[in-house]
Amino acid sequence: MNIDYQLLSPQQRRSEPLAKDTDLGFGLLRTDHIFLMDYQNGEWINARIVPYQNLQLAPGAMALHYGQSIFEGAKAFLHQDNEIYTFRLDKNCERLNQSAEILSMPSLDVDMQLQAINALLDVERLWMPTATGASMYIRPFMFATDDSLSVKPSNSYTFAVMLSPSGAYYAKGMSKSLKLLITQQYHRAVSGGTGAAKAAGNYAASLRAQQHASSVGADQVLYLDASNQYLEEVGAMNHFHITRSGELVIPEFTDTILKSITSQSILSLTNELKSLLDLTPVQKKISIKQFLADVQSGEITEAGGFGTAAVTASVGHYILDNGEHYTVGNGEIGEKTQKLCQYYSELQQGKQAAPNNWLVRVERIN
Ligand code: PLP
Ligand code: COI
Repeated sequence: MNIDYQLLSPQQRRSEPLAKDTDLGFGLLRTDHIFLMDYQNGEWINARIVPYQNLQLAPGAMALHYGQSIFEGAKAFLHQDNEIYTFRLDKNCERLNQSAEILSMPSLDVDMQLQAINALLDVERLWMPTATGASMYIRPFMFATDDSLSVKPSNSYTFAVMLSPSGAYYAKGMSKSLKLLITQQYHRAVSGGTGAAKAAGNYAASLRAQQHASSVGADQVLYLDASNQYLEEVGAMNHFHITRSGELVIPEFTDTILKSITSQSILSLTNELKSLLDLTPVQKKISIKQFLADVQSGEITEAGGFGTAAVTASVGHYILDNGEHYTVGNGEIGEKTQKLCQYYSELQQGKQAAPNNWLVRVERIN
């Protein structure tokens, strides 16, 4: 793929590395450029890296009306050798295509996605954050651009990649455990729907539930399946819990749960988790009744969520619609959860051995 570089002049773009003490937040900063590519007549064309700017869109663009819009979230890290490494980026590119299939959108060759993201990261080297725990958050996205009011798949699309030097997703970070609302009032996904896609509409549909959670003093929602019997996932994370016997339990992936790359990574690190933390990762269907009974009896000792943005969040409290309150362990950040978060972060930062091809160095092209 040929990429057209339309870069800002040296005077207009960042000329020195981001200061270590930069206040990052999550997803707030933008880098100087964005990658764009168009889909027309069955082909991806016009790959380009241009200054970060507003996009031109017809008022009838179908993404705005009927929601054909998907995205990904991945991270790149600056290692001690001063090189940039992406973490399992191929998995994100594969998942973008799975989301595309669910939303009747075109796929985009994984190698082309990787080339696009690597080229942009290479251009934006000086934007790499250097503070501990910080990373370059990578946001690839695709949306429908046909100017049409018919409900049908669009013929034209744009694929874009933007970058945001970021710190922790939750302002609380790992300094405090979260409180989640388990509600029967709102559902995130139903079987046969779009729950397994990283579709923009799924997040729009979660806002009302999120606002309700905030109004009762909870940080986020832990969703149940549509029958209210099984535990599914959190708004932007997969669920996990740890039992007294050392099982690290993640709900089985169904078509109503986003197949978290963090969860999949944890599930495949069996030997490391056993030797370092005496944990055995497993996937199971989790009945909400049993879950609450096990939290209450102390059989479940820790709980939390996995996700790229959040890495590992610890959950200390669950509340139900009727106000009932369940405390996990002593309500504080779980000891194993904290160690797991540290281990996983160190692995991403190149300070722990990672399986082959999980960390890929960004080539210096420019
Ligand atoms: N579930 C939902 C709904 C999410 O938005 C995310 C975030 O990406 C996750 C789970 C975690 O997935 P991953 O670990 O691939 O980031
Ligand atoms: C991520 O974890 O990468 C996400 O995309 C979550 C998000 C909606 C901020």
